Amino acid sequence: MAKKVLSGIQPSGSLTLGNYIGAIKNFVKLQEEHECYFMVVDLHAITVSQDPAALRENSESVAALYLAAGINPQISNVYMQSHVPQHAELGWIMTTLTAMGELERMTQFKDKSSGKDSVGAGLFVYPSLMAADILIYNADLVPVGEDQKQHLELTRDLAGRFNHRFGEFFTVPEPYIPEVGARIMSLDDGTKKMSKSNPNPGSYIALLDPPDVIRKKISRATTDSGREVIFDPANKPEISNLMSIYAECSGMTLQQIADRYEGQMYGGFKKDLGEVLVATLEPLQQKYQEIRSSGALSDILAEGAERARGVAAQTLAGVKEKMGFLPLR
Ligand code: AMP
Ligand code: TRP
Repeated sequence: MAKKVLSGIQPSGSLTLGNYIGAIKNFVKLQEEHECYFMVVDLHAITVSQDPAALRENSESVAALYLAAGINPQISNVYMQSHVPQHAELGWIMTTLTAMGELERMTQFKDKSSGKDSVGAGLFVYPSLMAADILIYNADLVPVGEDQKQHLELTRDLAGRFNHRFGEFFTVPEPYIPEVGARIMSLDDGTKKMSKSNPNPGSYIALLDPPDVIRKKISRATTDSGREVIFDPANKPEISNLMSIYAECSGMTLQQIADRYEGQMYGGFKKDLGEVLVATLEPLQQKYQEIRSSGALSDILAEGAERARGVAAQTLAGVKEKMGFLPLR
């Protein structure tokens, strides 16, 4: 049966292979069977300081990458979070249902705030807004990478809490986390997640990196001691990470990859992986350029936002009624 699917990515920098494998690839897969909402979550991005020109550029870039990766705006709703103001309004309501202690336990908040002199309150309440994003469409399924699991658990708790206090209303959503590729690791350190906010660009593959940069980054990626290409994340995190990337971008299984490179050293494997990545990303980059120069994006975003607003306004009206807000006339 068709489900409602929702996810979002922050326009806070150039998207990486981690975003693609952990999230966008699954968006594309899920849209065939389900009613999908794919946002660019600009309200989340401003929880850390953003330069206005960069925010504008990154917002368009993420939307265009969604389409370039295969999200079809005829069947999926693609839009900016800030174009659907009901998100912020339900976000506030969710904040009032969230306990300080729950937010204090969020590992992403701990990571992003550690060592900073001053941290915005928005960064702290960010998970309540994310819960609103999901609940406002009564989404059943939320495709995300591993790092969002804790936020999803809070969303589920908040849905249950609302239903318990005000009467059955929200769908309790399920995370959709891929088995392989839910946590693509940094190329310079197999114990850290690949992230667009890492200051070392050699640590990630950006989806818009030119082919030669991709090849170079893979050839320089840190590898574990030893020489065998085998999947063993506990003992060989770096080679295992490269194997996951290979599997996700080639369609081969981890076992097929291990068999192909049996008895060989890392060099040949890495060279082939560079080519696998170029073959995956080059067509995506071409499509991206076409979309950016076509000028079609603003209409697509406007249509997506309009459809999303219709659903969101209805849910929000129901929430307000349940909670006892006085109706307007
Ligand atoms: P963000 O870039 O933090 O907005 O993340 C957008 C989506 O990409 C979320 O679903 C993340 O879980 C996913 N994601 C980000 N980095 C990675 C990674 N290194 N591996 C797998 N998924 C990731
Ligand atoms: N918090 C998510 C991230 O950093 C982005 C996000 C915001 C999101 N709202 C969402 C993801 C709703 C899934 C569903 O990656």
